[in-house]
Amino acid sequence: MCGIVGYTGRANAAPILLDGLKKLEYRGYDSAGVAVINDKKLFVSKTAGRISALCEKTDNGENLPGFTGIGHTRWATHGAPTDINAHPHTSNDGKFAVVHNGIIENYMSLKEELVKKGYEFESQTDTEVIVHLLEMYYTGDVKIALLKTAARLSGSYALGVICSDYSEKVFAVREASPLIIGLGVGENYFASDVTALVQHTKNVIYMDDGDFAEITPDDVKIFDFAGKPKNKPVNRIEWDIRAAEKDGYDHFMLKEIMEQPRAVRDTLSPRIKDDRVCFDEINLTDEDINKINRIVITACGSAYYAGCAGKYTLEKLTGIPVITELASELRYSQPLIDDRTLVIVLSQSGETADTIAAMKECKKRGAKVLSVVNVVGSTVAKLADYVIYTWAGPEIAVATTKGYTTQVTVLYLLALYIADRSGRITPSDYAETLASIQKIPQLIRQALSMNSAIPTLAKKYHIHNSMFFIGRNTDYAVALEGALKMKEISYIHAEAYAAGELKHGTIALIDDYQPVVALCCNKAIMEKTISNIIEVKARGAQVLALAEKDSSKIVTIADDIIFMPEMDDYLAAPVEIVPLQLLAYYMAKENGCDIDKPKNLAKSVTVE
Ligand code: F6R
Repeated sequence: MCGIVGYTGRANAAPILLDGLKKLEYRGYDSAGVAVINDKKLFVSKTAGRISALCEKTDNGENLPGFTGIGHTRWATHGAPTDINAHPHTSNDGKFAVVHNGIIENYMSLKEELVKKGYEFESQTDTEVIVHLLEMYYTGDVKIALLKTAARLSGSYALGVICSDYSEKVFAVREASPLIIGLGVGENYFASDVTALVQHTKNVIYMDDGDFAEITPDDVKIFDFAGKPKNKPVNRIEWDIRAAEKDGYDHFMLKEIMEQPRAVRDTLSPRIKDDRVCFDEINLTDEDINKINRIVITACGSAYYAGCAGKYTLEKLTGIPVITELASELRYSQPLIDDRTLVIVLSQSGETADTIAAMKECKKRGAKVLSVVNVVGSTVAKLADYVIYTWAGPEIAVATTKGYTTQVTVLYLLALYIADRSGRITPSDYAETLASIQKIPQLIRQALSMNSAIPTLAKKYHIHNSMFFIGRNTDYAVALEGALKMKEISYIHAEAYAAGELKHGTIALIDDYQPVVALCCNKAIMEKTISNIIEVKARGAQVLALAEKDSSKIVTIADDIIFMPEMDDYLAAPVEIVPLQLLAYYMAKENGCDIDKPKNLAKSVTVE
């Protein structure tokens, strides 16, 4: 939520900042702004709306000359998305400008104190207290003022600061919100995410909580909050700029859907050597594994639904009970977690506030936390005892696709790994399961190519304002994610229901033409789902079924059918979700929605 960027060098800062903001726009897109230093004065331009509006206002940055500056793209928390609430915020004396991602929890008491001291506030944001505190503590040394300011703040913040007394410096501070420094030649940067940096440099420093950076064109100095210098490693970003571009597709979402065979293959292949699953990156000992008496999977949104899909496979292969819990619930639920619990945390961004809080709660209770994360160096990765990266590459569309499929695939591999290490699987079942997992990229490719009818189906179904997604067991888990995809990008109300539950109340809502998407890929219970299809058909529903190619019975019952390749019941989710992603995509397109940036949403939900 919210993206921040900073630059100091020998080029005009504003066009570079605007370019960086465009790359970060998926983090928030209701208002934006930039501030630069020119001739020892600050110049600020900000506006409600998208980055494109800011580009227009600043003539693509050309009417804001200056070699040092900061920028922000906002997802409103405190105060409506207006010009005034947009960042950067400036101090009353006009010396400081601040951009902020996060939430200052104690801003009300700080505001009261600052108002009493005569500081004038113009916005409704929590952020504005920061810039007035800086002015209050500033006696000529920004570092001292910033460290004193940081000591007064509670909550989460990644801050970018410029001061008109220092024409060649940007300052950056991190506490519980992502922040990365990019190292160039004669120029340096900071940003919330590497996507804003990769076109300029592949050398980055990941800031940790409690880090403060003083950045000039030729140098980056990092300190802790006590002001002590820190030595931090320089990391190399492995992917190039094309990964963060649309590459000819109309939308990032479609590009990312199509990338899934590659993303899943890249996630699988480093972990399979000589027909064995090997997670070289996690040092779980036999003792650690044999101690596990319960697995708790926690995450938010689609990542949680990935956990729901993985649960069946983990339980089947390992015999260990698996509980899935929403991170936002787990943290307040006095969870039954102890040192025999393996907690698996799933997060594409690695920065989701509720997920991080749940993780901390589990660690406090003595559990070991294994995280499955897509963003290298993210907070979830840093806090976990063990990290498995999903090598999906940058995911830009707000609605996750390849993030989900790679997470589920890692859970399948992990299930096999734990089953094997704890002696719960026979060699032949092991070999068979691994072979099936290895087929997933190919099956996704088939699922993509088998569904050329989806745009036509979208034309038929997009006129409805409500849909049900039904299925049992593994199909139900996929239905949850399918319905979320539909809601978030097409704005059609979609509800996932365990098919057997319909008759316990919800069937009252089924009448003529009500669309029901019926997932029938789990062959073991397909007959049961078919009975539920017949029940809704008898009440007038239009059924769009998802089933394997030779499910002839369904062909005669459903109104429409999306065919799937033949899959293992317990390893189907990353394949089965693909047509549902495409259906949501084309329905959203029919409805004229802003597919990559759905209303009210943002990627990387760094607030509770
Ligand atoms: C939905 C979606 C969200 C995320 C959720 C968790 O398409 O993307 O529901 O899955 O906000 O995000 P991460 O995985 O970054 O923790």
